Amino acid sequence: MKSSSTSFKAACLFALAGLGMGIGMAASQDHSLMPAHAHLNLLGWVSLFLFGVYYRLHPALETSRLAMTQIVVWSVGTTFLTVAVAALHLGHTAFEPVAAVSALLLFGSLGLFTVLVFRSGSPAQAATRVMTAAE
Ligand code: HEM
Repeated sequence: MKSSSTSFKAACLFALAGLGMGIGMAASQDHSLMPAHAHLNLLGWVSLFLFGVYYRLHPALETSRLAMTQIVVWSVGTTFLTVAVAALHLGHTAFEPVAAVSALLLFGSLGLFTVLVFRSGSPAQAATRVMTAAE
């Protein structure tokens, strides 16, 4: 599967979970999970969708194993960070190591994305490279 499609599909699943959590908070009038909801929506929906847009604009990255790794690590980090932030705000301090490891996963994934961005140049250059390779 292409890296952009994977990003868009995962982003939609995170958005469904994030919006569901928001509706649950609003309905119950208990906003104690608000930090988890905010992280889930911003990391899982907004950021992941933006990664997908970047990969769609750079066709050479669509089949890149590094790009796919970046998305998978980001998704795993988002899932565990959301659970850890929710647990910590409910008073379960044992989840601190989970928050720390997932934050490092997200940091590593963003580092990888940064490398891909610096290496990939403009969309026009990327399209030229793909067309040249196809000829
Ligand atoms: C069905 C859709 C949504 C519902 C029902 C919902 C509901 C809520 C509720 C009840 C709060 C707590 C507000 C408070 O206690 O002050 C909240 C906070 C927040 N939500 Fe959502 N939300 C939704 C979608 C989103 C989306 C799509 C995003 C981001 C892309 C988002 C980002 C945030 C953020 C950043 C906060 C924290 C705001 C603050 O610090 O005051 N939410 N949301």
